[in-house]
Amino acid sequence: MPEDNFKKIKTKFASKITVSDSEFDSLYPKHLREISKYQWSPVDVIREAADFLSENENSKVLDIGSGCGKFCHVASLSVEGKFHGVEERIHLHEAAVRVSVKLKLDSGLFFHANMKDINWNLYDSFYLFNPFYEHITNKNSIDETIPKKVSQYFVYLEIVKRKLQSMKSKTKVVTYNSFGGKMPSSYKRVRLEKRFESELEFWIKD
Ligand SMILES: C[S@@+](CC[C@H](N)C(=O)[O-])C[C@H]1O[C@@H](n2cnc3c(N)ncnc32)[C@H](O)[C@@H]1O
Repeated sequence: MPEDNFKKIKTKFASKITVSDSEFDSLYPKHLREISKYQWSPVDVIREAADFLSENENSKVLDIGSGCGKFCHVASLSVEGKFHGVEERIHLHEAAVRVSVKLKLDSGLFFHANMKDINWNLYDSFYLFNPFYEHITNKNSIDETIPKKVSQYFVYLEIVKRKLQSMKSKTKVVTYNSFGGKMPSSYKRVRLEKRFESELEFWIKD
């Protein structure tokens, strides 16, 4: 991808000019572009979610299962705040870091880890785009590098619920196409939108 394209897209965001998904996805390698429709959040969804999740330049937002980093990249270019992503697949983590460097972003930071092993209490808010769905479907998979197990899916859902339950009051969460399970009852849904046949839900902890 020519350096100019990174600059062009950055300038468009700075000037609040609409950037389409195909244009933004062109920053990623071909094999990642090809699965964008199923695996990476759309630009408009990210903008809306980021606007809700980040309150100011010090807000720390974590994308659970950050893939190639599209959520953090678009969010960092759109609103104030620090956008971090945790991703278990090393090749996706590396792709995310590469694009971050090319976009010269210092607010999009990525960890290569399983979401279950990191401390969620360091963050103010969370974004989840159905991260564990691959364990219960064979359709539109990213790759076969992760062993897929239905039992793992349910274990992860319980971990997410436990971690969300332990967060401080006023913690914000956005789910896109849900996170797979039921949100803990301490979270109130404050907004629900329909986006590309999926539900975009906005939550705040009591
Ligand atoms: C549907 S994609 C969403 C990517 C990104 N959040 C977005 O909205 O564009 C889900 C991602 O979660 C990652 N993932 C799944 N289980 C994970 C886990 N336990 N820990 C970290 N990442 C995980 C997958 O590898 C995949 O990249």
